[in-house]
Amino acid sequence: MPFDTEEQALTLDKEQSPHYLSLKGTWAFHWAENPDKRCKDFHKADADIEGFGTIQVPGHWQLQGYDYPQYVNTRYPWIGHDDIEAPFAPTRYNPVGQYRKVVELPDAFLKKPVYFRLEGVESAFYLWVNGDFVGYAEDSFTASEFDLTPYLQPGKNIFAIEVYRWSDGSWLEGQDFWRMSGIFRDLYLYCLPEVHIDDFFIRASLDDDYQDGKLAVDAALRNYNETPGTATLLAKLYDRDLALVATAEKKVAISGEQQDVSLQMALARPRHWSAEDPYLYKLTLSLLDDEGRTTEVEGSDVGFRRFELKDGLMQLNGKPILFKGVNRHEFDSRVGRAITKVHMLQDIRMIKKANINAVRTSHYPNDPYWYKLCDRYGVYLMDEVNLETHGTWHYGQKELGNTLPGSRPEWRANVLDRCSAMFERDKNHPSILVFSLGNESFGGDNFQLMHDYFKEKDASRLVHYEGVFHYRLSEGVSDMESTMYIPPEQVETYAKQAGPGSKPYILCEFSHAMGNSLGNFQEYVALFDKYPILQGGFIWDFKDQALLHRTQEGVPFLAYGGDFGEWPHDGTFSGNGIVFADGTPSPKLAEVRRQYQPAAFEAVDLSAGTLRIRNKFLFTSLDRFLLKWQMLKDGEPAVSGTLPLDLAPGEAGIVSLDYVLPQEPGEARWDLQVSLRQTEATLYAEQGHEVAFGEFLLPVAAGPVVRDLPEGAVSCSLTEGMWQVTAADATYSFDPAAGLLIGIGKAGFAYLETPVVPDFWRALTDNDRGNGLEERAGVFRHAAGKMQLLSATLERGATMAAASFTHSYDGLGNSRSHTCFAVRGDGLLEIDFIFRPDPLLPDIPAIGLAMTASSGLDRLEWVGRGPHESYADRWQGARIGRWSGTVREQFVPYLRPQACGNKMEVTKLSVHGARHALDFTSRLGFEAVVLPYTDDELEAAGHPHELPEAGKTVVKINLGQMGVGGDDSWGQMTHPAYRLHPNQVYRHQFMIRLD
Ligand code: GAL
Ligand code: MG
Repeated sequence: MPFDTEEQALTLDKEQSPHYLSLKGTWAFHWAENPDKRCKDFHKADADIEGFGTIQVPGHWQLQGYDYPQYVNTRYPWIGHDDIEAPFAPTRYNPVGQYRKVVELPDAFLKKPVYFRLEGVESAFYLWVNGDFVGYAEDSFTASEFDLTPYLQPGKNIFAIEVYRWSDGSWLEGQDFWRMSGIFRDLYLYCLPEVHIDDFFIRASLDDDYQDGKLAVDAALRNYNETPGTATLLAKLYDRDLALVATAEKKVAISGEQQDVSLQMALARPRHWSAEDPYLYKLTLSLLDDEGRTTEVEGSDVGFRRFELKDGLMQLNGKPILFKGVNRHEFDSRVGRAITKVHMLQDIRMIKKANINAVRTSHYPNDPYWYKLCDRYGVYLMDEVNLETHGTWHYGQKELGNTLPGSRPEWRANVLDRCSAMFERDKNHPSILVFSLGNESFGGDNFQLMHDYFKEKDASRLVHYEGVFHYRLSEGVSDMESTMYIPPEQVETYAKQAGPGSKPYILCEFSHAMGNSLGNFQEYVALFDKYPILQGGFIWDFKDQALLHRTQEGVPFLAYGGDFGEWPHDGTFSGNGIVFADGTPSPKLAEVRRQYQPAAFEAVDLSAGTLRIRNKFLFTSLDRFLLKWQMLKDGEPAVSGTLPLDLAPGEAGIVSLDYVLPQEPGEARWDLQVSLRQTEATLYAEQGHEVAFGEFLLPVAAGPVVRDLPEGAVSCSLTEGMWQVTAADATYSFDPAAGLLIGIGKAGFAYLETPVVPDFWRALTDNDRGNGLEERAGVFRHAAGKMQLLSATLERGATMAAASFTHSYDGLGNSRSHTCFAVRGDGLLEIDFIFRPDPLLPDIPAIGLAMTASSGLDRLEWVGRGPHESYADRWQGARIGRWSGTVREQFVPYLRPQACGNKMEVTKLSVHGARHALDFTSRLGFEAVVLPYTDDELEAAGHPHELPEAGKTVVKINLGQMGVGGDDSWGQMTHPAYRLHPNQVYRHQFMIRLD
């Protein structure tokens, strides 16, 4: 973008240029369901557009009352509607959106070359100005530019743009996302001085010792003037504080159309750019005329960095890099892909705070502003070409067959154009380390040409393509081995088998975060830590793609595939984010933050307060952080302190914390938590922001488990066939015919609405559905309804009475449970539940006791992991503490309701209302779920708004629940280590106290 002054150019904000004219805003709009029905004369200057509606640009027309959005994964969206073959576009249903606007041309734009740039239009369009046809473009995610100089007139100009929902290009745009159309990114006019810096390519790198900087600028000047002359190109490099640090200039004759100029600069010991320290210099390029007058200034951020494949590893500034990455679609639940700067800022702040250092722009070039943010905030980018042809091939296929683009010459120019459009647009961003040739498009010679294109243009970046994995004949097109959704042990196999000449390995997609997922994520990260050749991965993916929609009654909800009546569709499969569609964090984000953290803590001798800390940064010393530590007694902070640190990147050291462990054995649980805090604010986080934490159970001897039996009399009676056991005002009622605890009361208050029953189920998660848990383990559903009482006894003592029941279960083979409810003289109830599953049964989803508590008990407080949910294979992001909330708040709004809200290592749980509390305690700890819904209700609801009114308090006190899994959501099961196998006896003990 040309500016007039350096001051303007240094803003690097095109909107600050006097030569910029935005065409955003309201346009007249006409929509037709297919090309035949479009308004054929709409582009003519005198066309009658009376009947046109309006539309906001940028935006998708599907979110503004026209047409419908459609979510499909691998299938082409027209399948079943139009029977067509590539390269033809549908004709029966292929909506056309016609945009028209009268643009008043400012005087400053007269008599100058004027360009029109559209940053994103899906999927293809024709452009007319004042009735004249200007051009056509496709490739939805890169810019299209038109030279409008010959078409414009002083004053009013009529712009007419005709957009097609699908075009031949749509065969190359089969990404797994919402299919939506229209002008969805910025569009603007800009005018140029007659002699103009048409293009520049900045290459800022480091010498072989990674010390001194080299800066090369290759510029192309263009002369729109007939008269030849001279021009001087002056480059000025400024540091972050705008101190001038280097200059270079060259005078050239400008006669012909284009003149190339190259400038070189050297900078001794520049500050390096990295995601850890995204230090940017600023460069201005000024063009001076014969008389030395500045006629144009351009500006750019510059980051000195060197990225290379060296000694078999991807290295940045001389150090092997680790991509702690995430895939990101551009998305917001209200505007789809027509996101604004505010959305992008929210995303990048959240990404940085979660210790994510890399983003794959899955699966297309993003809004230009995103790259600026990544340069500034420090995010490594894998910039991906807009190419996916998933609908043309299938897994396991060996030959190219009908795949697109394959080796087909007729698609060659198209895919190469997609490469060059991305490259030319993005080449000056230091954040881009890797170019990716697209997603899931199989292989073929065209990929070799795409690869060669990038290699020839730019040696400072590497090329990625995962399709090689499916078509090894294209091996040469990717600099790195890349796979998706490979379970940890297979990833390790690659590392173990790798030898000299092996490519570095990344997972371009892993840990499929659909619904309640991201289990065993830590195992991947541990492998990245262990084997240098495993250079990280990109989680699938950042944000759920679900659109804000309303029911017929006007209730807002997040809609997924099928909710707009569209067909075909792929349901909830676009909800795979670690962040919810509305931008709020999900519990998965906390786990990511923990696993990607830049420091590791290990116990050396907890009784002496010594820990080993490893600085996992590549370039940052830990002197920028303070270590805060605290000792917790039953989740409550007791002693705390702070410690300055000074560990060089990659170094480990031992620290001593100044605490003394309690010497007396006691009842309490003692934990140590350490937290690494920023000493200064960063662009994205306040001073004191925690970048890493560690947690240790302290070795404090436990007191004796057996204690004196409480004083107080226990009385038992038989009332209406029920056993009533009363002690200290508390009454427990048992049904001896069913063998159940059916009521708990005290002072006239009834604590239970249902009996306390064994429970072996959890509401299916997306991963459970994907791997067939229902078919495999459905026998465990509704255990209470399958119980057969084998024996019931009541033992009475003076200060203790115990009701014991043994059950078998229909459909569960030889499984038996034995439950003993011991009422003590002080009114407490000790529960001892033993479950002996039939070893021939499948793994058990959960083991515990469930009940619906009185709806008046609608709040909870617990000592255990929190504040968000935790699971056997995803708990490290949650920490021990004393937490509280309402029952409703424990529900986690996954796109489709499912098991959620589990709490690990709970030693105390109080389910309470204003006056009464039902308290559960166990020194051994249990897992708890307290939700306003039953499993059946969760499973029956397609969306959170379809759940019944949240008024209940459903409590599960579990010995355990299987982990959530997460390697993928279409078959991979929860890993065996996090499942409950039937080959052992489970014993679950806890106490109930009434308040
Ligand atoms: C991958 C694909 C992604 C997404 C994901 C499933 O195969 O590259 O775009 O479809 O699976 O959520
Ligand atoms: Mg796909």
